[in-house]
Amino acid sequence: MREIRFDRFGGPDVLTLHSDAPTPEPGPEELLVRVAYVGLNPLDYKIRDGSSGRAKDLQLPAGTGREMAGTVLSAGSDLDDAELGSRGLTPGTRVFGMRAPADHRGVAAEVIAIAADELAPIPDEIDDADLPRWAGLALVGLTAIATIEDTARIRSGQTVLVHGGSGGVGQLLIPMALEAGAAQVWATGRATNAERIRDLGATPIAYDTEDWQAEIHRRTDGRGVDVVLDTHYHSTFVPSLDHVVGSGLVVTLPTLADLSPAQERGVEAKVPRLRPGRDRLDRLVQGIRAGRYPLEVSQVLPLAEIAEAHRLLEDGHTRGKLVLDAQA
Ligand SMILES: NC(=O)c1ccc[n+]([C@@H]2O[C@H](COP(=O)([O-])OP(=O)(O)OC[C@H]3O[C@@H](n4cnc5c(N)ncnc54)[C@H](OP(=O)(O)O)[C@@H]3O)[C@@H](O)[C@H]2O)c1
Repeated sequence: MREIRFDRFGGPDVLTLHSDAPTPEPGPEELLVRVAYVGLNPLDYKIRDGSSGRAKDLQLPAGTGREMAGTVLSAGSDLDDAELGSRGLTPGTRVFGMRAPADHRGVAAEVIAIAADELAPIPDEIDDADLPRWAGLALVGLTAIATIEDTARIRSGQTVLVHGGSGGVGQLLIPMALEAGAAQVWATGRATNAERIRDLGATPIAYDTEDWQAEIHRRTDGRGVDVVLDTHYHSTFVPSLDHVVGSGLVVTLPTLADLSPAQERGVEAKVPRLRPGRDRLDRLVQGIRAGRYPLEVSQVLPLAEIAEAHRLLEDGHTRGKLVLDAQA
């Protein structure tokens, strides 16, 4: 079967398509899954270039990719038919999910073995044409839930500023912040993404054509917002410290973010930690089914074009999700 691997840390070209990889054996509590699509995330290139904390104990050669959608082929020895049936994961079922953070294996392959606990069934009424969106849902969805509920704990009536409102995580942070009761959500993005941000329910601030700091100052009468949800970090984190109310909070997403400028200023700042698991995957299913999380897939590329996909990802302007077709 075909699988993407890399044998050294480096640029996108270290990613190599192997056509003769052995089909994996599922562990006792794992499923064998034929992968339809793979969702890409900035974490993928940070592991590939060695800059992520997760790269430290990675054994090379390694696979790549964390989240996917596909079809269950078979199950490991501890998962009998009754168990699979009760979880809705019998062979032939379409599933989506992501590798647990501590599981270093990739998912960019035609067939993978993956823990049954990390997967949830895709509802029958979903058309196969919509599978790319399900492939890109688990990691950003679990991140957005952790950000809104565990870390920011958005409460009714709060004002929120999202940086990067049309990115993968941003497209879920906006509707989830509104669902949690936020009174007003502003979101930065390029002018070309303003309409998308508005469709998601936020007021766009185009950082490439206007001064976002002056805008948020003006729109909050100089008070600032209760919570900043910062998916970008690089040029947004430090300036954001000037635009939160006294008791406010800045949540920034990159796990290696330096929070010391906030500590020095006495502003609370945190990085979310996603919690994997079936209960939250099922909540994402309900949200998609109800039309509350209209996560967009901007591009689907064949598996063999993974290096190009990583180059696009590294540009830092992905709209919604970039997805690979694992069978093309
Ligand atoms: N802590 C965790 O567990 C966790 C989990 C998932 C992701 N993350 C991290 O979260 C970050 C975002 O992930 P993602 O998947 O959403 O990335 P993404 O899909 O690549 O989105 C990047 C976003 O950043 C925006 N952006 C770029 N420059 C900007 C600027 N100067 N000001 C405001 N926005 C700007 C882009 O919008 P425009 O195109 O409009 O510029 C785009 O919406 C990554 O660093 C990722 O590693 C952390």
